[in-house]
Amino acid sequence: MAERAPGWDPEQYLRYADERARPFADLLARIPVSAAEAVLDLGCGPGSLTRGLVDLWPDAVVTGVDNSADMIAAAAALEVDGRLKFVESDLREFAPDRPVDVVIANAVLHWVPDHLDLIGKIGGWLSPGGVFAFQVPDNFDFPSHVVIRELRTSPKWHERLGAGADRGASVEGAGAYQDALLAAGLVPDVWTTTYLHLLNGDDPVLEWVKGTALRPVLTALADDPDATADFLAECGRQLRSAYPQGRYGTVFPFRRIFAVGRAGASR
Ligand SMILES: C[S@@+](CC[C@H](N)C(=O)[O-])C[C@H]1O[C@@H](n2cnc3c(N)ncnc32)[C@H](O)[C@@H]1O
Repeated sequence: MAERAPGWDPEQYLRYADERARPFADLLARIPVSAAEAVLDLGCGPGSLTRGLVDLWPDAVVTGVDNSADMIAAAAALEVDGRLKFVESDLREFAPDRPVDVVIANAVLHWVPDHLDLIGKIGGWLSPGGVFAFQVPDNFDFPSHVVIRELRTSPKWHERLGAGADRGASVEGAGAYQDALLAAGLVPDVWTTTYLHLLNGDDPVLEWVKGTALRPVLTALADDPDATADFLAECGRQLRSAYPQGRYGTVFPFRRIFAVGRAGASR
């Protein structure tokens, strides 16, 4: 079976909007740009976080870019005339028509193969003193991802899922991002954080990964509701065992890599 690009579901993604917003806020807090005219949000998703950038940089035109028609359709409702617009485009093909003061890529680059190669190109879009800031998950060895990886590559599911069984999102080590920012001529600020999200409800980790890590599987099985239910039942059982419900909820540790690169004042 040919691999399909993962389809996105804005509603499922926004189910944990507060938890997903936290790394975005922590990333923004380290962007040393007080005034901006042009701001880009690559892989903007449903636009809910992009919307806040309009208030953060009141003189800027903010552009959100995403290659999911469903995400861009959800984001379009948030457009603000002359201040905030959304463009459906693959970020690998997108190019701004003027120097950009702030480029953000929040929770997106891990979906783009060979994304290290893009860092120099994006760094080249920056105005003097401009900043490229991104964050990616760093939990591919955590039980949430190990369960999904082992299930989708198991004999039962491997053939059914086709090429998509072997491919998921992936990241580099934090040091590789620091090196890439330096090679792009940017001053780097790179760190990692582990959040201990406390999730409520039944099967909260399954519901979380249905919004992100399971997108390639759910896309590959989209035309087969029985197989989807079968996969989710098995995945849910294993995730419940890996993340048992405690007295106060389900603790879901989540490690992220943050990287901010600043261009020199005279470029
Ligand atoms: C996990 S969501 C993050 C959305 C948003 N940045 C946020 O933090 O809420 C990842 C987004 O990246 C987008 N995406 C993945 N690969 C992309 C690509 N090659 N070009 C543009 N967008 C991409 C997906 O469509 C999805 O909306």
